[in-house]
Parts: sequence; structure tokens; C-alpha cells
Amino acid sequence: MKTLQQLETISKQLEQQAGHRSLISQKANEYAEQFLNGLDHMPGYTKGSLDQLESLQFDEEGTPIDALLDILKTEVDAVGINAASGRHMGYIPGGGLWTSSVADMLAALTNRYAGIAFSGPGSVKIEDQVIEWLLSIVNYPQQQGYGNLTSGGSTANLIAVKAARDYHQINSSNVKDAVIYFTQQTHHCLHKALHTTGLHEAILRYVPMNEKFQMSGDALKEQMMSDKWDGLKPFLVVATAGTTDTGAIDDLNAIADICKEFKAWFHVDAAYGGFFMLVDEMNKKLSGIERSDSVVLDPHKTLFIPYGSGAVLLRDKNILFSSNSYKASYMKDSFHVDAINPADTGIELSRHNRALRIWLPLHLHGIKPFRAALKEKLLLTQYFFEKIKALGFETACEPELSIVVFRWPADEDNSINQQLIERIHEDGRVFLSSTIINNKLWIRCALVSHRSHLREVDIALQMIEENMQALKLKPSFLQQHR
Ligand SMILES: Cc1ncc(COP(=O)(O)O)c(C=O)c1O
Repeated sequence: MKTLQQLETISKQLEQQAGHRSLISQKANEYAEQFLNGLDHMPGYTKGSLDQLESLQFDEEGTPIDALLDILKTEVDAVGINAASGRHMGYIPGGGLWTSSVADMLAALTNRYAGIAFSGPGSVKIEDQVIEWLLSIVNYPQQQGYGNLTSGGSTANLIAVKAARDYHQINSSNVKDAVIYFTQQTHHCLHKALHTTGLHEAILRYVPMNEKFQMSGDALKEQMMSDKWDGLKPFLVVATAGTTDTGAIDDLNAIADICKEFKAWFHVDAAYGGFFMLVDEMNKKLSGIERSDSVVLDPHKTLFIPYGSGAVLLRDKNILFSSNSYKASYMKDSFHVDAINPADTGIELSRHNRALRIWLPLHLHGIKPFRAALKEKLLLTQYFFEKIKALGFETACEPELSIVVFRWPADEDNSINQQLIERIHEDGRVFLSSTIINNKLWIRCALVSHRSHLREVDIALQMIEENMQALKLKPSFLQQHR
């Protein structure tokens, strides 16, 4: 009993007393306010050291909150890409809605279990409602379809690929004859998903693309016919609605027709592009998404939610269940509850109330500002596109969504563009990233953050122009007057 008392005294240190709790909350809140208020002036990218972090050891005794917040400030939140900033225009920026962070805090604090409806009926209901809303975005049938909220697009794609594999009964005995179709622009997380599901042993076909980096429907059909003729089993086509490099949208209706003809699973990776369905003008470009068997959307991209939110949707919920549902006798108390368990529609069992970080902002703000922010991004992209061409850059293609891919022309060995992107990273005012397409180095500007507005785009253009000058690259309007 004495030992128990001693242990209880020490273990109770894990529970802060009310006064101390509000002190820590206040300091964390001040930190958050300072961070948010400073965001407009913070650079998009900063190099820095991690000296304090490296020397801080996990100790038997605690460290004061001030010291920890100081390390966060100087060595975590001020180093690398400032992903919460509107000046992050590289890769596919994540958002960072403040209202979502409030939901995360509440979800962690209340620690509601969201894996099984019996344990957390309310949190599971919230997930259910978010999924229903997502189904409506891609025009999937509400009664028939269902989905799962994941940590991101990679896990969401994994769940979709696994469902396709299970539905088509691909296993070790027939995988060598199974054929999967993508393009060179398919996101590499699909390859990870294939590896995880054993499907990397299938035959993988890279379908040629047209000049807009879209999968060629003709080439796809020809390849599938040829494979079928050879006795193989074409079973999965991976289309993309918004490729990472250029934002290309595959011709989803054409691919849907072909998949129907060959009875193949039609998957759409719309991690980046899917939420543009909220903008009326984009519906036509994304038309056909509703004909897919599975689709991935990433709320932590184009719904501006902080990192940690992806979603997979299946047109047929029964396929999702049979690919993910397991029973364990120790969970028998939950069997009588007639509700969809997130544990039966995805890979995880225990999970936090992940849906709250989407549900709360959607309810608090309403949908209107989300639509406006996405439409704003599309218009800003057109603005950037025109300005960058006027500076003398060549572009890889007309932007379909909110990415502009550009390079200084006549740079055979890519050295000028390499120098330019290095200077841009050194400069750091705005973060841009680079990529290689057909052996050429291209610089990318991806306008995805809800905090990227005209001001940030103008800062990016000014930064590019100043770094061009430093490299003695002349803007096109000056070249004309030589
Ligand atoms: C088109 C596309 N699919 C999938 C992913 C992977 O998503 P995540 O990074 O959320 O795992 C990305 C990431 O940028 C992407 O752009």
C-alpha cells in the first residue's frame, strides 16, 4: 500500500492542476497568436540549425514549458518550409485552418474513441456525416457509397488499391497475370500502395500521355486489348484528377468507358484536384469522377485542413467492408450496434476523432468561403501564368488547376534553371519547388494554401524577377527592345 501511494503521488504529475493547466494553455495560446499574427511577414522557407533540439534529452524530470516553446519557436516553426504560410507554393501545400487546430485540441483533450460506434457513437456519427458530404462532392450515390477518413492521400490510396485487389480476387496464384495501368505522372504513393498490397508483382503498364500530360485513352484501350488478347487480366486503371507535377486531369469519362468495357476497376487519385468540384466551373473538367469505383480526396490539401487528413471513397460500400472488416471476440460488446464502424472501412482500429478537424471548420465557416478560396486560387494561377510568360519563361502546359510549371528557355543542361531554383531557396521569401519532366528541370508554383492571395503571388513574382536579374536573365519585354 505504501508503494502504491508513492507511485500514485508521482504518476499524478501527469495530471496538471487547474491553475497550472490554465497557465500552460495561456502560454500555448500566446504562442499560437504570435505565430499567426507574424505569418504575413514570415518567409516561405528558412534554413536553420537544430542545435537546441539535438542537445535536449528526454529526462526523468520535466522541462519548463517556456524552454520547450522557445525550442519550438526557433528550431521547429521557423525552420524549413513554412507550411502554414501563404508563401508556401511548392509541392502541394497543405493548409492549416486555425479552426481545425481548435478541433484537434478538443479531440485530443476529450480523447473520444472513433474506431467503433459502440465506443464513440458521436464521434463515429461525425465521421459518417463528413463522409456523406464528401460522397456528395464527387456525386457518388449516397446510399451505396461509403469511405474512410485517413491520415493522408497515401493511406487513402492504399485502401482503394487493396479494395480493388480483393474485389478482383488477385492473389499470389494469379498476380503475375494481373495488369495495372498508370502514367509516368501517377503519384509515387500508388507504387508504395502496390508494394504494400503485393501488387508490385503484377504487370505494370505506363500508358503514354498527350501533350497536356493526360493519360491517352486510345493508348490505354489499345494496351488493354492487347493484354487481354495475350491472356492477361487487365484489372486496375489508376487515373489522376490533378497530377502533382502539373495539375493535369485525365479524361475521366473516356477512362470510365474503357474500364466498363474491360470490367476493370477504375480508381481516381483526386487527392489534390478533387475539391475543385466545389467550384461550379470545374465540374465539367472533372466530369466522370462519379463513374469511378474509388476516389481519393485530401482535405489537407485543397480543403486547407492541417496535415493529417485524407479520405478514400468507394462507390460500393460492401466492397469496402469486405476488404477491411474483421471481428475479434474481445470486442463482442460492440457487435449489437447497428452503425458503420470506421475500423471496418479502413486499416486502423484505434483512432482519434479525426473527423472533428473537418466537421468543425465546415460548420463554423459554412461552405461558401471554401468555394471562394478555391476559385480565388484558380484565378491567381491564371494571373501568375500570364505574368511568368511575360517575364520570358516557357511553360510546360496551360494550367488545368492551380499549378504553373515554368522554366527559363534554351537551357539544354538545366544549369540556368538549377541556379535559379537554388537562388529562390536561398532567398526564401516564397517557397517554390522544382521537378524533372522529360529530362528538363521545371520550376513549379502551386497555389493551394487558403493564405495565398494576390499579395503573396506578387511577392513570388517580384522574388523571381529579382533573382533573374541577379543571374542576368532578361525579362522578355526588355529583350524585345534590344
Ligand atoms: C496527386 C497526389 N496523390 C497522392 C498524394 C499523397 O498524399 P499524402 O502526401 O497526403 O500522403 C499526393 C501528395 O502530394 C498527391 O499530390
